[in-house]
Amino acid sequence: MIPDTVMFSIDTFIRPHLLSLKPYSSARDEFEGEASVYLDANENNLGSLAGGTDYNRYPDPYQKEIKQKLSKLKGVRPEQIFIGNGSDEAIDLLIRLVCAPGQDEVLLLPPTYGMYEVSANIHNVGIQRVPLDERFQPVFDKIAEKQTEKTKILFLCSPNNPTGNILEPETVEKLIREFKGLVVVDEAYIDFTETPSWSTRLDEFPNLVVLQTLSKAWGMAGLRLGMAFASPEIISYLNKIKPPYNINAVTQELVSAALDKTAQLHDMLQVIVQERERLVQVFAELPLIQKVYPSDANFVLVQVPDANELYAYLLERGVVVRNRTTQPGCFNCLRITIGTPKENDHLLESLQVYSEQKSVV
Ligand SMILES: Cc1ncc(COP(=O)(O)O)c(C=O)c1O
Repeated sequence: MIPDTVMFSIDTFIRPHLLSLKPYSSARDEFEGEASVYLDANENNLGSLAGGTDYNRYPDPYQKEIKQKLSKLKGVRPEQIFIGNGSDEAIDLLIRLVCAPGQDEVLLLPPTYGMYEVSANIHNVGIQRVPLDERFQPVFDKIAEKQTEKTKILFLCSPNNPTGNILEPETVEKLIREFKGLVVVDEAYIDFTETPSWSTRLDEFPNLVVLQTLSKAWGMAGLRLGMAFASPEIISYLNKIKPPYNINAVTQELVSAALDKTAQLHDMLQVIVQERERLVQVFAELPLIQKVYPSDANFVLVQVPDANELYAYLLERGVVVRNRTTQPGCFNCLRITIGTPKENDHLLESLQVYSEQKSVV
């Protein structure tokens, strides 16, 4: 019997010493108003060698302007938003927040994004694994069986990297309801699908954290800005343990302007999704490609007879893809990001030539 509400209190769940942690109090924390002379932060008041107007000043530690805009775009309240230096920073901080090194564990569903494991390893946090099934879907019973008192976070990635598929919402909901810990749903690729974000369900699930990023659809990987959406309680603990000025001024400035460009975002998304469908169709007709996995992301996973050989061949033609053959369930698989129409043409032509050379036509 699945309960209607999830009983969860972050206060009883975080590492106990963090409950009473006194965070660093920055100059910008202690004085927020307007003044004519700022002599409080040991900045260089003569100006900045980087040019710009205010780069000699520390940036807003809580990125209020960006949160206001994200709040409108995403339909969540500003106090439900944490902003990190990429979603990788949020992954790292979440592990630090609830997992005691050398004691607690996280639960991963491979094949999946590699940073959950790396972050856990950095913090000497144990890793339990329950592989996704042959459709790359989570297996509820096996996950439930694996959970112990030490398991503090379940990482779900939907659409999943490197497989590209959405995790079935029914199973995800059951996991959020039944898992006795934080359930992190990483939605780095959510903009490439019609499926609604789990952030629309935050008020129902106090143990839910949803990750998104501006690195993919928004085209701002180089600026490093990721988001965690969760209860205000979880967000305030993340703010407490983050580095004070984790989002630099240039990123805040450029991102704030970019968030107004939703029409252009939709135009880019349309091209990427159309190109994805085109590639999927052509791949399906190429005898060289034995399997094309369905994708809700900006990449497609394909299985070929010899991934190492094809990877090396494409590299000779100047095309670099991601060889995922060593990942569980991904033997002989390449993960191919959707490029520009011209880049995709070059890829397809290279695959054609390779097929002819190998007489796989
Ligand atoms: C599933 C997933 N989550 C998170 C990230 C990292 O995103 P960010 O650039 O925001 O750190 C990636 C990057 O490839 C990813 O695939």
